[in-house]
Amino acid sequence: MKQFATTLVLLAGFACRADCRDNSSMVHDFDAIKSSAELTWTPCFDDFTCSRLQVPLDYSNQSLGTASIAFMKWAGKNATADSQSFVIIPGKRPPPNHPDFTHKTKADATTPGGPGGSSIDQLQAYKDRLGSMFGDTYNFVAFDPRGVGRSGPRLDCFRNNTQARKAFNRAHYTGATNTSAASLEEQYYSAAIYGEWCDEAVKTDSPYGYYVTTPAAARDLLRFVEAEAELAGRSDSPPSQAKLWGFGQSYGTVIGTTFASMFPDRVGRLVLESVMDVDQYYANDWRSNFVNSDEAFAQLPLLCHAAGPDRCSFWGPTPENITARMDGIIERIKGHPVPVSGIDGRSLPGLATYSDLKYFLADGIYEPLKSFPIMADVFAQLEKGNASALVDRVERMYLGADDDGGVVIRCADSSRANKLTTMEGWKHYIQDAVSSSKYIGDIFPVWARTILCRSIHAQLPDSMMIQGPVTGIGKPVSFPILFTGNTIDPVAPAVNARKMSSRFPGSVVLLQEAVGAGFRPPTSLARGICS
Ligand SMILES: *[C@@H]1O[C@H](CO)[C@@H](O)[C@H](O)[C@H]1NC(C)=O
Ligand SMILES: *[C@@H]1O[C@H](CO)[C@@H](O)[C@H](O)[C@H]1NC(C)=O
Ligand SMILES: *[C@@H]1O[C@H](CO)[C@@H](O)[C@H](O)[C@H]1NC(C)=O
Ligand SMILES: *[C@@H]1O[C@H](CO)[C@@H](O)[C@H](O)[C@H]1NC(C)=O
Ligand SMILES: *[C@@H]1O[C@H](CO)[C@@H](O)[C@H](O)[C@H]1NC(C)=O
Ligand SMILES: *[C@@H]1O[C@H](CO)[C@@H](O)[C@H](O)[C@H]1NC(C)=O
Ligand SMILES: *[C@@H]1O[C@H](CO)[C@@H](O)[C@H](O)[C@H]1NC(C)=O
Repeated sequence: MKQFATTLVLLAGFACRADCRDNSSMVHDFDAIKSSAELTWTPCFDDFTCSRLQVPLDYSNQSLGTASIAFMKWAGKNATADSQSFVIIPGKRPPPNHPDFTHKTKADATTPGGPGGSSIDQLQAYKDRLGSMFGDTYNFVAFDPRGVGRSGPRLDCFRNNTQARKAFNRAHYTGATNTSAASLEEQYYSAAIYGEWCDEAVKTDSPYGYYVTTPAAARDLLRFVEAEAELAGRSDSPPSQAKLWGFGQSYGTVIGTTFASMFPDRVGRLVLESVMDVDQYYANDWRSNFVNSDEAFAQLPLLCHAAGPDRCSFWGPTPENITARMDGIIERIKGHPVPVSGIDGRSLPGLATYSDLKYFLADGIYEPLKSFPIMADVFAQLEKGNASALVDRVERMYLGADDDGGVVIRCADSSRANKLTTMEGWKHYIQDAVSSSKYIGDIFPVWARTILCRSIHAQLPDSMMIQGPVTGIGKPVSFPILFTGNTIDPVAPAVNARKMSSRFPGSVVLLQEAVGAGFRPPTSLARGICS
């Protein structure tokens, strides 16, 4: 019987290879693709093939039903159908060298990292860069983890009630914490509202809305590589031995290390960059993130001074002079937000506040090479009392946020170990953050949305939860993991990479002497690493 099933799968695979390429029609919508328990690739979005893979909601209790996970594939320039697949594991931030910051408009909501990202979006936007990063001989595969984007089970905490969602956003996202005496309390107490809505949505119409944890997503990835092997049907590489080749940044490193810890003998290649502290992630205790943030900001005055007055609009006679003026502007706007009338027709009326400036800085510091010149311009204009550039670029943090996937994943993951549950804990967390970073310590905590987890009550079976620490100690990983990063990473410091490397004997840390979130290796180096 088993053999029969396998044969059917193989036949389906061959049939698809003949048909899908020759005459199935191009789709431009994942909903047009039938979800199935085997992998079938349908030509999609002009340059890609897509698949919706049906996976069990709970691998240890298949009677609960299934979810469908969206995958998208792009063939490298010199890849064939048999070439190795290389999975882009989603983290919230886009991949290196993307043009975003320079072209960003107000509408582009950004988050500080963490779950909720889609590598399908990234693949569509940045496919042309992948060849130079990893080599042209791979098939690049992107996916939306369960609970995100095009993959189920999706939870809409406000159940289409956009009014309620907006009202919550206004009440909760009040800006930098502790700018007013009340903001600390406002953010802590309003977080309760969010959990009530999410719990209610789960109770009424999305019973498995919390079944979106990272260990389950890691298990989905294993199912994917097995499904690929089934489709290929090669006797020398049976599904039970199929391995994951992948690259993950930021939260993608949590999926990657979780996968390696759960399935150590199924690691083909893993390159993990901008590494997160996985213990802190699962405890909802994002603490080490900002230990190098101020060091990253300190590069702005140094580089601006070195660039000279013609090339840096905020230039000053010494780096210290630039730092002092920068800090002075940040301090001044606290008590004196700057009104922008918009009468000249260049922008809409708005008030540039301390929180806006902090958010702008926090968002920009991920990509200093692109953002420093823009930051210099904004500071130069603020120094003259002109805030229109700031108002133009920044929308109040999360005011338009309408996606729960990322929050629900981090809260479900930490539902048994959440360290951020009390007012005292929140206060200490802010104090710790502020003493680590004067630039983003008071914006990062609310921006990271970890406080929202305090009121979410996810009741999940053991199979959904991480069991014990994430580690490769005592269970050798089948190929050493490569952890990469920059010496000065404003949000994922090198100390995280070293810590995670110590958990995976044989792994290596490769640091680039550079500032910014994520590694930007020269092409030839990247090729060398990955071949
Ligand atoms: C698909 O291919 C088959 C066999 O080559 C052919 O008979 C059929 O007409 C094609 N269908 C379409 C929709 O082109
Ligand atoms: C599987 O889930 C069903 C429905 O919730 C439950 O009744 C059953 O006890 C579960 N089985 C196991 C083995 O956990
Ligand atoms: C493409 O692959 C072939 C066979 O592996 C190789 O000989 C060729 O140099 C590759 N071309 C490029 C542009 O990488
Ligand atoms: C929200 O609206 C969409 C589209 O109209 C619908 O498919 C979905 O079922 C609704 N969700 C809830 C929870 O009512
Ligand atoms: C920075 O340098 C300028 C030009 O010499 C000077 O006018 C200004 O007072 C200095 N500002 C600070 C804060 O040191
Ligand atoms: C304010 O800055 C904007 C650029 O953001 C510029 O277009 C405008 O001319 C400036 N206004 C004044 C009064 O300098
Ligand atoms: C909030 O600000 C006040 C006054 O500046 C300060 O005393 C207090 O420690 C701050 N609280 C936190 C949690 O940072």
